[in-house]
Amino acid sequence: MAEKGQQKSQIKSRERVSQRGEVFTAEREVNAMLDLVADECIRPDSRFLEPACGDGNFLSAILGRKLSFLVKKYGKSPRDFEKYSILAIGSLYGIDIMNDNVLACRERLYSLWDKQYTAVCRKNASSRAREATQFIISRNIICGNALTLMCVDDSGNDTPSPIVFSEWALIDPIHMQRTDYTMAGLLASEGGLFGRGGGIADEGGTFLKRYVTHYKKVQEDGEQSVSERL
Ligand SMILES: C[S@@+](CC[C@H](N)C(=O)[O-])C[C@H]1O[C@@H](n2cnc3c(N)ncnc32)[C@H](O)[C@@H]1O
Repeated sequence: MAEKGQQKSQIKSRERVSQRGEVFTAEREVNAMLDLVADECIRPDSRFLEPACGDGNFLSAILGRKLSFLVKKYGKSPRDFEKYSILAIGSLYGIDIMNDNVLACRERLYSLWDKQYTAVCRKNASSRAREATQFIISRNIICGNALTLMCVDDSGNDTPSPIVFSEWALIDPIHMQRTDYTMAGLLASEGGLFGRGGGIADEGGTFLKRYVTHYKKVQEDGEQSVSERL
């Protein structure tokens, strides 16, 4: 990864360009595009999907903006910073067909978040919050085919599993609700996770799984769904 101020290469290899069209967007273009929706980029719960995310050039820039906003607003309130920065992580979604890009994107988002989290929360920082963040990132950044909407294996071939995304919503000061939807279902329903309404509720979209838990415990309750609708 390029150091700050150093230009990151837009191409890793000719082979990857010809096989997967992998040409990364330069930081200047990323920021020029994000400036067009600057207000959305600072709202912690404003959702973004990068459907061919690579190592997350757009997602990491958006996270950087959200975190800067949160540092300004909650820099002296570690508890609030923790909660809203986890919500911000939960608002970012990515799909890439190449597993190494997915792993790099997850790592990049986590490092960005953890750097600010550690600086703001210091002795109040907890391993539970870090685990919750890693869990959310692992669910939101998916190795899949954005055209067929299926998860893929290490060779980039479709598996029988559809891409499933989780909606993360704070429903009161400490509780987070996770609701899972297939990507295909989200695209078919108008409000959608990424629609203008901001939430999915159950309008049209059929959810697969839903539970409510403390925002720092999403990873612990992750596999014990309160409601399964498959
Ligand atoms: C042009 S790069 C863009 C990366 C990043 N969004 C950026 O702007 O820097 C395209 C990315 O799409 C991925 N890709 C190609 N076909 C895909 C598909 N069918 N589904 C998901 N990702 C795909 C490649 O692995 C590559 O990382």
